[in-house]
Amino acid sequence: MSFISSAAFYDGINGEAYVPYAEYLTECFSKAAIPVKEVLDLGCGTGGICAILAKKGYDMIGIDNSADMLNIAYCANSGLNTLLLMQDMRSFELYGTVQAVYSSFDCLNYLGSAKELGKVFALVHNYLEPGGVFAFDVNTRFRYEKIFDGMTYAYESGDDMMVWRSALSDNGKSCEFWLDLFLCDGKGGYRRERETQRQTCFSREEITGAAAGFTLLSQTGGKGFDGCGEAEKDYYLFRRD
Ligand SMILES: C[S@@+](CC[C@H](N)C(=O)[O-])C[C@H]1O[C@@H](n2cnc3c(N)ncnc32)[C@H](O)[C@@H]1O
Repeated sequence: MSFISSAAFYDGINGEAYVPYAEYLTECFSKAAIPVKEVLDLGCGTGGICAILAKKGYDMIGIDNSADMLNIAYCANSGLNTLLLMQDMRSFELYGTVQAVYSSFDCLNYLGSAKELGKVFALVHNYLEPGGVFAFDVNTRFRYEKIFDGMTYAYESGDDMMVWRSALSDNGKSCEFWLDLFLCDGKGGYRRERETQRQTCFSREEITGAAAGFTLLSQTGGKGFDGCGEAEKDYYLFRRD
């Protein structure tokens, strides 16, 4: 699983959603039982949402395991109060606690099993202060079956092109993504690179079952601003007990 060359396409595909997503997150932070100042972004990617929240005055920590995504995040967060760490969300370590954690754009779907999801919840519980909130979105089964399974999409970024193919596997439990990148060499030629990614489709029962020590405050459908209709995404908001 990797975000390497596709990192350069990422903001072009998702960038318009960063401002409304950050607004949604500040609403989530207002549901915490404690004031929120320090915030962890799990799977921060290119750091666009981190940067917006840092400009709003939050002390941001972004964790991601892709050097290529983090390289872009470093530029986006230059001069801002954002600490970027290259770590795996299944085993991350922080220097202290935070009052809010979020994981945007289906990062948690990149976990391989409900057991790994449980590990992430346990680590979030460890570093999140009591009364703090944990917000994230996940892709729904509908999205895997109707939007991804057997589908091909193409994206352009300047002279570069990415072809994205996806299909369900593992009896519908996982979804494989094959990304073919055609990168212009500036001399009329193209270099082809390939990435593969895999997501796990988690049920509500698996998510709430992993959330030991948290209270579920809300679960809502896609919000539109991320390009996803109500049936395509689930937005979860938990408060740490
Ligand atoms: C779809 S992108 C979302 C990026 C970002 N949250 C955003 O809102 O734009 C998923 C991100 O999760 C990261 N990721 C996937 N598995 C990870 C893991 N085990 N630990 C840390 N980061 C991970 C990827 O590198 C990628 O940057």
